[in-house]
Amino acid sequence: ETARIGVTGLAVMGRNLARNLARHGHPVAVHNRTAARTKALVEEFGGEGTFLPAETPEQFVASLERPRRLVIMVKAGAPTDAVIDEFAPLLEPGDMIVDGGNAHFADTRRREAALRERGIHFVGTGISGGEEGALHGPSIMPGGSAESYEALGPLLEDIAAKVDGTPCCTHVGPDGAGHFVKMVHNGIEYSDMQLIAESYDLLRHAAGLAPAEIAEVFRTWNTGRLESYLIEITAEVLAHTDAATGKPFVDVVLDQAEQKGTGRWTVQTALDLGVPVGGIAEAVFARSVSGHADLRAASRNLPGPARGAVADAGFADKVEKALYASKIVAYAQGFHEIQAGSAEYGWNIDSGAMATIWRGGCIIRARFLDRIRAAYEADPSTPTLLTDDHFAEALGDAQDAWRDVVATAARIGVPAPGFATALAYYDSLRADRLPAALTQGQRDFFGAHTYRRVDRDGSFHTLWGGDRTEVTS
Ligand code: 6PG
Repeated sequence: ETARIGVTGLAVMGRNLARNLARHGHPVAVHNRTAARTKALVEEFGGEGTFLPAETPEQFVASLERPRRLVIMVKAGAPTDAVIDEFAPLLEPGDMIVDGGNAHFADTRRREAALRERGIHFVGTGISGGEEGALHGPSIMPGGSAESYEALGPLLEDIAAKVDGTPCCTHVGPDGAGHFVKMVHNGIEYSDMQLIAESYDLLRHAAGLAPAEIAEVFRTWNTGRLESYLIEITAEVLAHTDAATGKPFVDVVLDQAEQKGTGRWTVQTALDLGVPVGGIAEAVFARSVSGHADLRAASRNLPGPARGAVADAGFADKVEKALYASKIVAYAQGFHEIQAGSAEYGWNIDSGAMATIWRGGCIIRARFLDRIRAAYEADPSTPTLLTDDHFAEALGDAQDAWRDVVATAARIGVPAPGFATALAYYDSLRADRLPAALTQGQRDFFGAHTYRRVDRDGSFHTLWGGDRTEVTS
């Protein structure tokens, strides 16, 4: 018997993906560097479908039907290269290697080009949804050639999450496009999480609510336009009590957020592409600040306003509006980056399709994504989601509350970098004139960097050190 597809790397993500494939009736070859894991998988879950365990790479490759579909689920970076180097020599032209890890898209581009030379399709694939998603239906973002998608797409769509019968999987674009989109997905995830964290902090310190009460607020929000996986699990985490101390769980966890790198990559890439993603950047920096224990300890006695509950009864509703508005900004920035990446690398990514496959399965799944899908359906080439009819109206409706929340945070000394940067982005885009004109004047003054004028074409320079006449340059 041959396997339709094979998975090597059977840590929890790989194992659950293999089980998902088997459960959908696809015979799946399974391999792991240490054979004990392969054996354990088959022993524990062999009844779920057809697994073909392989002890060696040769055996694994031999058990795959042609063209071979080989999924690698190992750590990003050097371990991925090592596995590719191990398997590629055993493959033939037309075979496919799917990398389902969180690889950097630049690595994926490099690997795709190298393997293409040998006739092998390398399919960098974003997979989101954690362990549960991998098992029950993730959101899948495959890059690579259109030809490889013909052979892989039906299988991947079969095991992906479904929303209204539509699979949360589509061909994103060539080479690194899939991993690029997954990277931005994670950047948005960071931003979403940071905004939720700030909402919690303000409900606690401005409105004086206890974690269990805040959990109820999030539960209520989860029945409305903010309905999403992240809001749902936030309520769960806040309602949880630590068994050892009886305290709210959130009060016994060390307040230093960690990160594995995808959020940082999103920001680094945005800087290279010249795309303003302040919401994502502040989310990454907020994690970074939290982790600088020494810096925080040294700064603890700096003066600030006394903290005490100051908010009125309607404050939670204002926070809801600030959260929704800031979330719109976070997604607008993320999609801007996707469009810029797509243009830079010639990927031709369909933004509306990305919103569609993020509606289910992934960490940022939310009712909201269907709004974004609709926005791109209404205007596929819109430069920003902010001007979509629905979003523009929501921003207009939220803005008073949004400003009030940011002002309150500043007044009582609760950091709200996500809300503040989102509002600043909104106001920057709305502004008739920005002080960038002054920046240009300064640059021209100290470095003769020149400026353009509002009333005439061309580049100009003022003789600042002389009689201050203007010259064309
Ligand atoms: C997903 C997640 C996943 C990642 C977490 C953790 O889409 O399923 O994005 O890929 O492991 O986001 O990332 P950090 O450790 O950087 O927070």
